[in-house]
Amino acid sequence: RERKRKEGVNLLELSASFFRERLKMPEGQAARHYLAERGLSPEIQAAFGIGYAPDEWESLKRHLSVREIPEALQIEYGLLVHREESGRTYDRFRDRVMFPIRDVRGRTIAFGGRVLGDAKPKYLNSPETPVFHKGRELYGLFEARQANTRLERLVIVEGYMDVVALAQFGIRNAVATLGTSTSEDHLSRLFRMVDEVVFCFDGDRAGRQAASRALEVVLPLMIDGRQARFLFLPEGDDPDTLVRREGAEAFVDRITCASPLSEFLFDLAARGRDLARIEDRERYASQVLAATGKLPDGLLKSMMLNELSRRTGVERSRFEALMSRSDIGVG
Ligand code: CTP
Ligand code: MN
Ligand code: MN
Ligand code: MN
Ligand code: MN
Repeated sequence: RERKRKEGVNLLELSASFFRERLKMPEGQAARHYLAERGLSPEIQAAFGIGYAPDEWESLKRHLSVREIPEALQIEYGLLVHREESGRTYDRFRDRVMFPIRDVRGRTIAFGGRVLGDAKPKYLNSPETPVFHKGRELYGLFEARQANTRLERLVIVEGYMDVVALAQFGIRNAVATLGTSTSEDHLSRLFRMVDEVVFCFDGDRAGRQAASRALEVVLPLMIDGRQARFLFLPEGDDPDTLVRREGAEAFVDRITCASPLSEFLFDLAARGRDLARIEDRERYASQVLAATGKLPDGLLKSMMLNELSRRTGVERSRFEALMSRSDIGVG
């Protein structure tokens, strides 16, 4: 099993250096142009190990096969696709900018590949393999730790390009969840390294939904001393477009001013409600209470109850009594 893991790592490293080499060759011209257009310097490209998968069906396959990597292994690690009907095998990644996904020790465990134009799918990722579990990994975590002697906070963004563009602007503490929603697994891993996470999803409906889901996931992890904050971007922006337009300083300001969890929670519950009406206030209180009930016992939870009481004029002891009932739904 361990031998197998080593074989996999070897073949993934061979592939990563193959992609990097190809980016430098004449065939990588369009990809180099694309990356330059997106404002990424050769230094940042190198820091993230960005490469290019040639527009050919078997170039990586040949490269690995002459190095005696069995095709079965290439298939198992997601680099080669096997067509059942024809028995044919071919490179999974073709004519794409390649982002290696690395584990915390810097070993390449998978790839994401972006088309140079508008073709679909925009991103193609490695499938689940013996070393890659999509719901667990965070893109950019290794690079963030490399770039900082001491990490204080991590910014969670949606995409590869967001992580790399922020790094280009000197903001070297962003990680991305690879197109899946933020899981408890992701967050417990991050909280082992830093006390503060800032969620910064795209300024669109999907991004706002992702923030509400992230809130639910982070609540039980909020032991005292930890902080979670939420940064909302202008409609239509993602961290990449915004940092490009406004610059690093403005983006850092936005991070600094991001809403603390408590504020986001109250705002979310108030959304679409008229708090001058008792019935709306009742639903508002229920929603905040349900979320507060998910917090671990501690100061934050206690202060949330005080604040809820202050905002609604209902005695705190009433909320405590309600919270101890098990039938409160999640707001
Ligand atoms: N994603 C994916 N497959 C897709 C689309 C998206 O895996 N077909 C993942 C990628 O990790 C992507 C992230 O979801 O980076 C966010 O998607 P999106 O906002 O659409 O892409 P951007 O990162 O903004 O890509 P770009 O700026 O290159 O257009
Ligand atoms: Mn496994
Ligand atoms: Mn989006
Ligand atoms: Mn985006
Ligand atoms: Mn983008």
